[in-house]
Amino acid sequence: MSETRALSINDEEAEAWQQEFPSLATTIHVSNCSHGPQAWRVRGAIDAYLDSWLEKGMDWESWIAEIYGAKEAFARLIGAKPTEVALSTSASAAVASVASALATGDERRHVVTTEAEFPTVGHVWLAHARYGLEVEFIPVRDGAIALDEYEGHVDERTLIVSATHVYYQNGFKQDVKRIAEVAHRAGALLLVDAYQSLGTCRVDVREMDVDILVSGNQKYLLGVPGVAFVYVKEELVERLEPSFTGWFGRVNPFAFDPKTLDYAADARRLETGTPPVFAAVAARAGMGLIEEADPGRIEARIEELSAHTIKGAAARDLEYSGPDDVSRKGATTAITVPDPARIEGLLKERGIIASARGDVIRIAPHFFTTTEDIDRALDELCSLLRHLF
Ligand SMILES: Cc1ncc(COP(=O)(O)O)c(C=O)c1O
Repeated sequence: MSETRALSINDEEAEAWQQEFPSLATTIHVSNCSHGPQAWRVRGAIDAYLDSWLEKGMDWESWIAEIYGAKEAFARLIGAKPTEVALSTSASAAVASVASALATGDERRHVVTTEAEFPTVGHVWLAHARYGLEVEFIPVRDGAIALDEYEGHVDERTLIVSATHVYYQNGFKQDVKRIAEVAHRAGALLLVDAYQSLGTCRVDVREMDVDILVSGNQKYLLGVPGVAFVYVKEELVERLEPSFTGWFGRVNPFAFDPKTLDYAADARRLETGTPPVFAAVAARAGMGLIEEADPGRIEARIEELSAHTIKGAAARDLEYSGPDDVSRKGATTAITVPDPARIEGLLKERGIIASARGDVIRIAPHFFTTTEDIDRALDELCSLLRHLF
Protein backbone atom coordinates (compact mmCIF):
# COMPACT_ATOMS: atom_id res chain seq x y z
CA MET A 1 0.00 0.00 0.00
CA SER A 2 2.83 2.40 0.88
CA GLU A 3 4.03 2.74 -2.78
CA THR A 4 0.74 4.39 -3.78
CA ARG A 5 0.33 6.49 -0.63
CA ALA A 6 -0.16 10.17 -1.22
CA LEU A 7 2.23 12.61 0.38
CA SER A 8 1.49 13.36 4.00
CA ILE A 9 0.26 16.61 5.53
CA ASN A 10 3.09 18.56 7.15
CA ASP A 11 3.08 20.76 10.28
CA GLU A 12 2.70 23.95 8.25
CA GLU A 13 -0.36 22.65 6.47
CA ALA A 14 -1.81 21.30 9.73
CA GLU A 15 -1.36 24.72 11.27
CA ALA A 16 -3.15 26.33 8.33
CA TRP A 17 -6.05 23.89 8.81
CA GLN A 18 -6.34 25.05 12.42
CA GLN A 19 -7.86 28.32 11.17
CA GLU A 20 -10.95 26.30 10.26
CA PHE A 21 -11.50 25.26 13.91
CA PRO A 22 -11.93 28.25 16.27
CA SER A 23 -11.37 26.26 19.49
CA LEU A 24 -7.86 25.34 18.30
CA ALA A 25 -6.77 28.94 18.88
CA THR A 26 -6.84 28.23 22.62
CA THR A 27 -6.83 24.44 22.95
CA ILE A 28 -4.94 21.39 21.75
CA HIS A 29 -7.62 18.95 20.64
CA VAL A 30 -6.45 15.35 20.91
CA SER A 31 -9.80 13.80 21.86
CA ASN A 32 -10.93 13.15 18.29
CA CYS A 33 -11.59 9.50 19.25
CA SER A 34 -14.42 10.90 21.37
CA HIS A 35 -15.56 14.13 19.69
CA GLY A 36 -14.01 16.33 17.02
CA PRO A 37 -13.81 20.15 17.36
CA GLN A 38 -16.35 22.41 15.62
CA ALA A 39 -15.33 23.66 12.17
CA TRP A 40 -16.52 26.98 10.77
CA ARG A 41 -17.80 25.11 7.75
CA VAL A 42 -19.90 22.76 9.87
CA ARG A 43 -21.22 25.69 11.85
CA GLY A 44 -22.08 27.45 8.57
CA ALA A 45 -24.04 24.43 7.34
CA ILE A 46 -26.02 24.20 10.59
CA ASP A 47 -26.66 27.95 10.53
CA ALA A 48 -27.92 27.72 6.95
CA TYR A 49 -30.37 24.99 7.98
CA LEU A 50 -31.54 27.01 10.98
CA ASP A 51 -31.96 30.09 8.76
CA SER A 52 -34.02 28.18 6.21
CA TRP A 53 -36.25 26.85 9.02
CA LEU A 54 -36.50 30.34 10.59
CA GLU A 55 -37.26 32.12 7.32
CA LYS A 56 -39.33 29.55 5.45
CA GLY A 57 -40.93 27.64 8.30
CA MET A 58 -40.63 24.42 6.36
CA ASP A 59 -38.46 23.56 3.39
CA TRP A 60 -38.55 19.77 3.17
CA GLU A 61 -37.40 19.62 -0.43
CA SER A 62 -34.07 21.28 0.27
CA TRP A 63 -33.71 19.44 3.59
CA ILE A 64 -34.24 16.05 1.96
CA ALA A 65 -31.70 17.07 -0.69
CA GLU A 66 -29.24 17.67 2.18
CA ILE A 67 -29.96 14.18 3.54
CA TYR A 68 -29.27 12.70 0.12
CA GLY A 69 -26.09 14.80 -0.15
CA ALA A 70 -24.93 13.42 3.21
CA LYS A 71 -25.50 9.85 2.04
CA GLU A 72 -23.57 10.60 -1.16
CA ALA A 73 -20.67 12.05 0.86
CA PHE A 74 -20.56 8.96 3.10
CA ALA A 75 -20.72 6.67 0.06
CA ARG A 76 -17.77 8.50 -1.56
CA LEU A 77 -15.71 8.17 1.63
CA ILE A 78 -16.06 4.39 1.68
CA GLY A 79 -16.11 3.66 -2.08
CA ALA A 80 -19.80 2.69 -2.19
CA LYS A 81 -22.89 3.75 -4.14
CA PRO A 82 -25.37 6.11 -2.41
CA THR A 83 -28.04 3.42 -2.86
CA GLU A 84 -25.91 1.16 -0.64
CA VAL A 85 -26.06 3.67 2.23
CA ALA A 86 -28.83 4.24 4.79
CA LEU A 87 -29.04 7.07 7.27
CA SER A 88 -29.43 6.27 10.95
CA THR A 89 -29.36 8.18 14.22
CA SER A 90 -26.50 6.37 16.01
CA ALA A 91 -24.13 3.49 15.37
CA SER A 92 -26.16 1.57 17.97
CA ALA A 93 -29.39 2.06 16.01
CA ALA A 94 -27.65 1.12 12.75
CA VAL A 95 -26.34 -2.18 14.20
CA ALA A 96 -29.76 -2.83 15.76
CA SER A 97 -31.44 -2.48 12.34
CA VAL A 98 -29.02 -5.02 10.89
CA ALA A 99 -29.36 -7.43 13.85
CA SER A 100 -33.15 -7.27 13.67
CA ALA A 101 -32.94 -8.29 10.01
CA LEU A 102 -30.60 -11.21 10.69
CA ALA A 103 -32.42 -12.74 13.68
CA THR A 104 -34.71 -14.81 11.47
CA GLY A 105 -34.53 -18.19 13.24
CA ASP A 106 -32.56 -19.68 10.32
CA GLU A 107 -30.05 -22.44 10.94
CA ARG A 108 -27.09 -20.08 10.94
CA ARG A 109 -27.48 -18.11 14.14
CA HIS A 110 -23.97 -17.78 15.49
CA VAL A 111 -22.57 -14.25 15.86
CA VAL A 112 -18.82 -13.96 16.31
CA THR A 113 -17.86 -10.61 17.77
CA THR A 114 -14.95 -9.38 19.88
CA GLU A 115 -14.03 -7.91 23.23
CA ALA A 116 -12.57 -4.95 21.31
CA GLU A 117 -16.02 -3.75 20.21
CA PHE A 118 -17.43 -0.57 21.60
CA PRO A 119 -19.84 -2.02 24.22
CA THR A 120 -22.95 -0.93 22.33
CA VAL A 121 -22.23 -3.45 19.56
CA GLY A 122 -21.97 -6.34 22.02
CA HIS A 123 -25.16 -5.15 23.72
CA VAL A 124 -27.15 -5.11 20.49
CA TRP A 125 -26.09 -8.65 19.55
CA LEU A 126 -26.75 -9.95 23.08
CA ALA A 127 -30.24 -8.38 23.05
CA HIS A 128 -30.99 -10.53 19.99
CA ALA A 129 -30.26 -13.75 21.86
CA ARG A 130 -33.97 -13.78 22.71
CA TYR A 131 -34.66 -14.02 18.96
CA GLY A 132 -32.32 -16.98 18.61
CA LEU A 133 -28.89 -15.47 17.93
CA GLU A 134 -25.95 -17.01 19.79
CA VAL A 135 -23.15 -14.60 20.55
CA GLU A 136 -19.50 -15.43 21.09
CA PHE A 137 -16.76 -12.94 21.97
CA ILE A 138 -13.20 -13.30 20.71
CA PRO A 139 -10.90 -12.23 23.56
CA VAL A 140 -8.48 -9.32 23.42
CA ARG A 141 -5.03 -10.50 24.44
CA ASP A 142 -2.25 -8.00 25.16
CA GLY A 143 -4.39 -5.24 23.72
CA ALA A 144 -4.90 -6.94 20.34
CA ILE A 145 -6.61 -9.82 18.51
CA ALA A 146 -4.58 -12.25 16.40
CA LEU A 147 -6.13 -13.25 13.07
CA ASP A 148 -5.86 -16.90 14.16
CA GLU A 149 -8.53 -16.20 16.76
CA TYR A 150 -11.01 -15.54 13.95
CA GLU A 151 -10.00 -18.80 12.28
CA GLY A 152 -10.65 -20.58 15.58
CA HIS A 153 -14.11 -19.09 16.18
CA VAL A 154 -15.69 -18.83 12.73
CA ASP A 155 -17.21 -21.95 11.19
CA GLU A 156 -20.15 -23.16 9.12
CA ARG A 157 -22.56 -22.18 11.94
CA THR A 158 -21.47 -18.53 11.80
CA LEU A 159 -24.06 -16.09 10.51
CA ILE A 160 -22.00 -12.94 10.86
CA VAL A 161 -18.65 -11.72 12.13
CA SER A 162 -19.01 -8.32 13.79
CA ALA A 163 -15.62 -6.63 14.18
CA THR A 164 -14.40 -3.15 14.92
CA HIS A 165 -11.86 -1.67 12.52
CA VAL A 166 -10.03 0.14 15.32
CA TYR A 167 -10.20 -0.67 19.05
CA TYR A 168 -11.56 2.41 20.83
CA GLN A 169 -9.43 1.79 23.95
CA ASN A 170 -5.93 1.64 22.52
CA GLY A 171 -6.07 2.26 18.77
CA PHE A 172 -5.31 -1.34 17.68
CA LYS A 173 -6.32 -1.56 13.99
CA GLN A 174 -7.57 -4.84 12.54
CA ASP A 175 -6.85 -6.19 9.08
CA VAL A 176 -10.41 -6.07 7.81
CA LYS A 177 -9.64 -7.67 4.47
CA ARG A 178 -8.16 -10.76 6.12
CA ILE A 179 -11.08 -11.01 8.55
CA ALA A 180 -13.40 -10.83 5.51
CA GLU A 181 -11.53 -13.77 3.97
CA VAL A 182 -12.04 -15.85 7.12
CA ALA A 183 -15.74 -14.93 7.36
CA HIS A 184 -16.50 -15.50 3.68
CA ARG A 185 -14.62 -18.81 3.53
CA ALA A 186 -17.09 -20.06 6.16
CA GLY A 187 -20.07 -18.55 4.30
CA ALA A 188 -20.57 -15.85 6.98
CA LEU A 189 -21.11 -12.11 6.58
CA LEU A 190 -18.79 -9.40 7.90
CA LEU A 191 -20.00 -6.25 9.66
CA VAL A 192 -17.34 -3.64 10.41
CA ASP A 193 -17.72 -0.83 12.94
CA ALA A 194 -15.58 1.90 11.40
CA TYR A 195 -16.45 4.66 13.89
CA GLN A 196 -12.84 4.82 15.18
CA SER A 197 -11.21 4.70 11.74
CA LEU A 198 -13.29 6.61 9.19
CA GLY A 199 -11.82 10.05 8.66
CA THR A 200 -8.32 8.91 9.65
CA CYS A 201 -7.55 6.55 6.78
CA ARG A 202 -8.68 5.23 3.44
CA VAL A 203 -11.60 2.84 3.62
CA ASP A 204 -12.80 1.05 0.51
CA VAL A 205 -15.60 -1.39 1.24
CA ARG A 206 -15.18 -3.21 -2.09
CA GLU A 207 -11.43 -3.61 -1.72
CA MET A 208 -11.84 -4.73 1.91
CA ASP A 209 -14.75 -6.97 0.88
CA VAL A 210 -16.94 -5.78 3.74
CA ASP A 211 -20.66 -6.69 3.64
CA ILE A 212 -21.95 -4.15 6.13
CA LEU A 213 -20.20 -1.12 7.62
CA VAL A 214 -21.43 1.35 10.22
CA SER A 215 -20.12 4.64 11.54
CA GLY A 216 -21.37 7.72 13.31
CA ASN A 217 -20.02 11.22 12.64
CA GLN A 218 -19.08 13.06 15.81
CA LYS A 219 -15.48 11.87 16.00
CA TYR A 220 -12.96 11.98 13.13
CA LEU A 221 -15.73 12.83 10.64
CA LEU A 222 -16.14 16.20 12.39
CA GLY A 223 -19.93 16.14 12.61
CA VAL A 224 -22.31 16.01 15.56
CA PRO A 225 -24.12 13.30 17.55
CA GLY A 226 -27.51 12.20 16.25
CA VAL A 227 -26.50 10.84 12.87
CA ALA A 228 -24.83 7.65 11.63
CA PHE A 229 -24.65 5.70 8.39
CA VAL A 230 -24.83 2.06 7.47
CA TYR A 231 -23.47 0.58 4.25
CA VAL A 232 -25.00 -2.64 2.95
CA LYS A 233 -23.45 -4.33 -0.07
CA GLU A 234 -25.84 -4.13 -3.00
CA GLU A 235 -25.90 -7.93 -3.44
CA LEU A 236 -26.98 -8.37 0.18
CA VAL A 237 -29.70 -5.75 0.47
CA GLU A 238 -32.62 -7.94 -0.58
CA ARG A 239 -31.84 -10.44 2.20
CA LEU A 240 -32.36 -7.84 4.91
CA GLU A 241 -35.88 -7.19 6.17
CA PRO A 242 -35.38 -5.47 9.53
CA SER A 243 -38.07 -5.68 12.22
CA PHE A 244 -36.54 -2.51 13.69
CA THR A 245 -38.14 -0.38 10.97
CA GLY A 246 -40.37 2.60 10.19
CA TRP A 247 -42.01 4.56 7.39
CA PHE A 248 -38.76 5.80 5.82
CA GLY A 249 -37.81 2.18 5.13
CA ARG A 250 -40.86 1.63 2.89
CA VAL A 251 -40.90 1.49 -0.91
CA ASN A 252 -42.87 4.73 -0.82
CA PRO A 253 -42.75 6.40 2.60
CA PHE A 254 -45.54 8.70 1.46
CA ALA A 255 -47.98 5.87 0.67
CA PHE A 256 -49.27 6.27 4.24
CA ASP A 257 -50.59 2.74 4.39
CA PRO A 258 -50.14 1.22 7.86
CA LYS A 259 -51.23 -2.22 6.63
CA THR A 260 -48.50 -2.71 4.03
CA LEU A 261 -45.01 -3.61 5.20
CA ASP A 262 -42.83 -3.52 2.10
CA TYR A 263 -39.10 -2.79 1.97
CA ALA A 264 -37.35 -0.22 -0.23
CA ALA A 265 -35.31 -1.89 -2.95
CA ASP A 266 -32.03 -0.34 -1.78
CA ALA A 267 -30.27 0.24 1.55
CA ARG A 268 -32.93 2.79 2.52
CA ARG A 269 -34.90 -0.23 3.77
CA LEU A 270 -32.75 0.04 6.93
CA GLU A 271 -34.08 3.50 7.73
CA THR A 272 -36.74 4.04 10.36
CA GLY A 273 -38.32 7.41 11.25
CA THR A 274 -37.94 11.01 10.08
CA PRO A 275 -34.25 11.57 9.30
CA PRO A 276 -32.23 13.91 11.55
CA VAL A 277 -31.84 16.85 9.14
CA PHE A 278 -29.93 19.05 11.58
CA ALA A 279 -27.31 16.36 12.22
CA ALA A 280 -27.14 15.22 8.59
CA VAL A 281 -26.37 18.77 7.46
CA ALA A 282 -23.46 18.90 9.93
CA ALA A 283 -22.31 15.41 8.92
CA ARG A 284 -22.23 16.37 5.25
CA ALA A 285 -20.10 19.45 5.92
CA GLY A 286 -17.75 17.49 8.23
CA MET A 287 -17.24 14.75 5.65
CA GLY A 288 -16.59 17.48 3.06
CA LEU A 289 -13.60 18.61 5.14
CA ILE A 290 -12.23 15.06 5.30
CA GLU A 291 -12.65 14.69 1.56
CA GLU A 292 -10.80 17.95 0.97
CA ALA A 293 -7.95 17.04 3.34
CA ASP A 294 -7.84 13.65 1.53
CA PRO A 295 -8.12 10.38 3.49
CA GLY A 296 -4.91 9.02 1.89
CA ARG A 297 -2.90 12.02 3.05
CA ILE A 298 -4.61 11.98 6.46
CA GLU A 299 -3.67 8.30 6.83
CA ALA A 300 0.00 9.09 6.17
CA ARG A 301 -0.14 12.02 8.57
CA ILE A 302 -1.81 9.96 11.33
CA GLU A 303 0.91 7.32 11.01
CA GLU A 304 3.58 10.01 11.43
CA LEU A 305 1.77 11.54 14.40
CA SER A 306 1.34 8.08 15.97
CA ALA A 307 5.06 7.40 15.60
CA HIS A 308 5.79 10.83 17.09
CA THR A 309 3.44 10.18 20.03
CA ILE A 310 4.87 6.72 20.75
CA LYS A 311 8.44 8.00 20.58
CA GLY A 312 7.56 11.02 22.72
CA ALA A 313 5.81 8.85 25.31
CA ALA A 314 8.79 6.48 25.52
CA ALA A 315 11.24 9.39 25.80
CA ARG A 316 9.21 10.73 28.75
CA ASP A 317 8.96 7.29 30.43
CA LEU A 318 5.20 7.21 29.92
CA GLU A 319 3.66 3.76 29.71
CA TYR A 320 1.42 3.16 26.70
CA SER A 321 -0.60 0.18 25.54
CA GLY A 322 -1.40 -0.93 22.01
CA PRO A 323 0.74 -1.75 18.97
CA ASP A 324 4.09 -0.07 18.23
CA ASP A 325 3.68 -0.72 14.51
CA VAL A 326 1.88 2.40 13.26
CA SER A 327 0.39 0.56 10.27
CA ARG A 328 -1.57 -1.56 12.80
CA LYS A 329 -2.80 1.50 14.64
CA GLY A 330 -5.57 4.06 14.31
CA ALA A 331 -5.07 7.61 15.59
CA THR A 332 -5.34 6.75 19.29
CA THR A 333 -2.30 6.22 21.47
CA ALA A 334 -3.32 5.07 24.96
CA ILE A 335 -1.17 6.21 27.88
CA THR A 336 -1.67 4.31 31.12
CA VAL A 337 -2.18 6.70 34.05
CA PRO A 338 -3.60 6.52 37.57
CA ASP A 339 -7.07 8.15 37.81
CA PRO A 340 -7.59 8.93 34.09
CA ALA A 341 -10.87 10.85 34.61
CA ARG A 342 -9.13 13.28 37.00
CA ILE A 343 -6.20 13.66 34.61
CA GLU A 344 -8.61 14.40 31.75
CA GLY A 345 -10.17 17.21 33.83
CA LEU A 346 -6.80 18.68 34.82
CA LEU A 347 -5.51 18.54 31.26
CA LYS A 348 -8.65 20.38 30.13
CA GLU A 349 -7.87 23.18 32.61
CA ARG A 350 -4.50 23.47 30.84
CA GLY A 351 -6.08 23.67 27.39
CA ILE A 352 -5.42 20.05 26.41
CA ILE A 353 -8.57 18.24 25.35
CA ALA A 354 -7.81 14.51 25.72
CA SER A 355 -10.06 11.58 26.53
CA ALA A 356 -10.03 9.11 29.45
CA ARG A 357 -11.17 5.48 29.05
CA GLY A 358 -10.61 2.63 31.50
CA ASP A 359 -7.06 3.02 32.84
CA VAL A 360 -5.76 5.22 30.03
CA ILE A 361 -5.70 8.74 28.63
CA ARG A 362 -6.16 8.61 24.89
CA ILE A 363 -4.12 10.95 22.72
CA ALA A 364 -5.98 10.96 19.42
CA PRO A 365 -4.77 13.60 16.94
CA HIS A 366 -6.23 14.50 13.55
CA PHE A 367 -4.94 16.06 10.33
CA PHE A 368 -4.93 19.53 11.93
CA THR A 369 -2.68 18.44 14.83
CA THR A 370 0.96 19.55 14.75
CA THR A 371 3.90 17.61 16.21
CA GLU A 372 4.34 20.56 18.58
CA ASP A 373 0.76 20.02 19.82
CA ILE A 374 1.63 16.39 20.63
CA ASP A 375 4.81 17.45 22.46
CA ARG A 376 2.87 19.99 24.51
CA ALA A 377 0.16 17.47 25.39
CA LEU A 378 2.77 14.92 26.52
CA ASP A 379 4.72 17.56 28.48
CA GLU A 380 1.60 18.69 30.34
CA LEU A 381 0.68 15.07 31.06
CA CYS A 382 4.17 14.40 32.45
CA SER A 383 4.15 17.50 34.57
CA LEU A 384 0.72 16.58 36.01
CA LEU A 385 1.81 13.04 36.78
CA ARG A 386 4.99 14.29 38.48
CA HIS A 387 3.07 16.68 40.71
CA LEU A 388 0.16 14.43 41.54
CA PHE A 389 1.61 10.99 42.10
C1 LIG B 1 -16.16 2.18 17.75
C2 LIG B 1 -17.42 2.80 18.27
N1 LIG B 1 -18.61 2.26 17.93
C3 LIG B 1 -19.76 2.75 18.37
C4 LIG B 1 -19.78 3.84 19.24
C5 LIG B 1 -21.10 4.32 19.77
O1 LIG B 1 -21.80 4.98 18.77
P1 LIG B 1 -23.28 5.53 19.02
O2 LIG B 1 -23.26 6.29 20.30
O3 LIG B 1 -23.52 6.40 17.81
O4 LIG B 1 -24.19 4.38 19.08
C6 LIG B 1 -18.59 4.45 19.61
C7 LIG B 1 -18.61 5.64 20.49
O5 LIG B 1 -17.69 6.02 21.11
C8 LIG B 1 -17.37 3.90 19.12
O6 LIG B 1 -16.19 4.41 19.47
